[in-house]
Amino acid sequence: MGIVYYEQDRIFKLDTPRTSYMMGVVDKEGFLGHIYYGKKVSGHELAYLLRTEEPPFVPSRNERDRLSFLDKFPMEYPTHGIGDFREAALRVRSAAGHKFCTLSYVSHKIFSGKKGIEGLPASFAGEGKCTTLEILCRDAHLGMEVVLSYSVFEDSDVIARHAEVANQGRERIFLEKIVSMSLDMDNRCFEALTLHGSWARECHRERRPLGRGFQGIGSRRGISGHQDHPFMALMTPATSQESGEVYGVQMVYSGNYEIRAEVSQFGTVRWQAGLEGEDFCWALEPGERFASPEALLTYSDRGLDGMTGSYHDFIRCHILRGEYKDRKRPILINNWEATYFDFDTEKLLSIAREAAKLGIEMLVMDDGWFGNRRDEFRSLGDWYVNEEKLKGGLSYLVEEVNKLGMKFGIWFEPEMISPDSDLYRAHPDWAIAVPGRTPSMARGQYVLDLSRREVVDCVWEQVEAVLRSANVEYVKWDMNRPLCDLGSLGLPPERQGELAHRYMLGVYELQERLVTRFPHILLENCASGGGRFDAGMLYYSPQIWCSDDTDAIERLAIQEGTALIYPLSTIGAHVSNCPNHAVGRNTPFETRGYVALAGTFGYELDVTRISEEDKEMIQEQAALYHKYNDLIREGDYYRIASAAENHLYDCWQVVGKDGKESLVTWIQVLCGPGRQSHMVRLKGLEESARYRVEGAGEEVELSGDILMYVGLRIPDRRGDFAGQVFHLVRVEEAE
Ligand code: GLA
Repeated sequence: MGIVYYEQDRIFKLDTPRTSYMMGVVDKEGFLGHIYYGKKVSGHELAYLLRTEEPPFVPSRNERDRLSFLDKFPMEYPTHGIGDFREAALRVRSAAGHKFCTLSYVSHKIFSGKKGIEGLPASFAGEGKCTTLEILCRDAHLGMEVVLSYSVFEDSDVIARHAEVANQGRERIFLEKIVSMSLDMDNRCFEALTLHGSWARECHRERRPLGRGFQGIGSRRGISGHQDHPFMALMTPATSQESGEVYGVQMVYSGNYEIRAEVSQFGTVRWQAGLEGEDFCWALEPGERFASPEALLTYSDRGLDGMTGSYHDFIRCHILRGEYKDRKRPILINNWEATYFDFDTEKLLSIAREAAKLGIEMLVMDDGWFGNRRDEFRSLGDWYVNEEKLKGGLSYLVEEVNKLGMKFGIWFEPEMISPDSDLYRAHPDWAIAVPGRTPSMARGQYVLDLSRREVVDCVWEQVEAVLRSANVEYVKWDMNRPLCDLGSLGLPPERQGELAHRYMLGVYELQERLVTRFPHILLENCASGGGRFDAGMLYYSPQIWCSDDTDAIERLAIQEGTALIYPLSTIGAHVSNCPNHAVGRNTPFETRGYVALAGTFGYELDVTRISEEDKEMIQEQAALYHKYNDLIREGDYYRIASAAENHLYDCWQVVGKDGKESLVTWIQVLCGPGRQSHMVRLKGLEESARYRVEGAGEEVELSGDILMYVGLRIPDRRGDFAGQVFHLVRVEEAE
């Protein structure tokens, strides 16, 4: 395992436990060519692997056909303008206006451990746990250096990649495009799997074959977005949930991005993930550097289950930080769907009093507590407590909540400014806008220009003052509109193309301050639900509110898509009231609980107004949470059946890392004809072990192979949307 440079062949080989990645230096110009990425291999023969014996020859042997070489060669990090007409990884404009750069290998370093990326979220691992390769390439004419960075981890099949550009020349250059990773492969009839949606409909899976030309996804919204998720998998047509080859890439970034695949004239695929190019242009003065965000690549020959397992473990070990990353989170109750803007201290305390009796551990006060905020149209930016609503102030409320034995959490939307706010009246130029034009409002608000230091500092001072004023133990950090009208009064004309990325750097800086200065606070990100659910935000908050749609049945597809790459411990999920506020559907309280248990778990309803029956169920659900959350948070997750595909039922399973227990959750979406039981084939068990299966009022003992190859029999339950859970305990352990 690790990284080896074969000096004689000039080949780099990166090994993870089950994969290999190879590239090599060729020709007198030192082109870096991609060789292979996939299942682990042992060889590294240069001439054979790089196919340099095939026409067109490398330029040193056939200069006459240099262009056809460049347009075919699998460049490891292709550049724009040189005659490789496929998508470039790096497009640079010189001070003279030429768009051309070419990279030659200069040197490399291999070291134990991994560096951070300044100002950006990035995966991490201690020395001895990971090995990093940095390849230095240069464009001598421009005086530009590019460092391509690759890290492999001893416990993971994920490879972390990014690129950094340094201007060592005498003139300013402009970066017009920079990707985090580029990968050339032979097309094996690849199909792309992506996650799509809109507000309250995040992360629905879509699979389609790659065609010739460009295809891909991205965001120009300034946030990763509800619409296209910053993730793509390429897989062969035969690949299924359980078997076959899958390549995955996801961004550790929360702003504008692009993930694209291009099928060339020769049937090869060039696959790239990085910053979105259209709204981006970064001026790099002599002596300055620019770092791309990180991309996480993975390969599995065990179908989507393999990819999911790798990403879940990787995010848990190498992205999530802070005190709560491995800890059970408090069961919370959030007042948003209970009261919306209409609450005061007494109302919140009445909810807290009832909730405390039922085993709920934290009250979260959502939107509406600050400035003159009585609806969506005012006060964002005025982060001081509205004492008309909260008589006695925040500290009184929090003390009273604490007296009940509960923690207290609070909502902010720090990146925004309402036109009707003291902040806007004092600093109208702090809203992102193109001078002389009226910017578009969304949800009655503008976006703060966080590319400006004074704006970041002002927001921080206000947020910090609130957090220091009372015993706040949780923050919900919301962000409820995309960026447009991209103009900043803090940037000169030639730097306006930097705004969207600089905005993200401002957001990251604010969140870094929050997690370092308030290490005991549990941070949950949110962007109108899952509008900014990505590995970048997970670096700051171990959980993200996954959707404003709290309907248990809608949530099945949303949580299935989200759990394709993110661990269940990161997925914000609550039980809410029925008829559901987003879709008007009624589902059993029990089922709502089972679906929310597959996430962070909490409530979003008025407990003072629900039936005694529902209250009893909350106590049962709280007990289930305490019984199963360690397993759900830490275990291996498997998708067993998808209601989005079969339209009948949904089923997922979690198996403890030690193999001693497993939890199977089954939700009926439609009553099947004939009232027949269903056999679902489980995964991740030991074939020869015996398991005691508790659930549906029955207890049976079955072997692992029966449960995996014949199946677990799920009795039919009357009524749509019924849910059932089954707890499996390995018998040796139970006795
Ligand atoms: C967003 C969030 C909700 C809630 C509201 C408050 O829509 O996703 O959970 O906090 O804002 O305005």
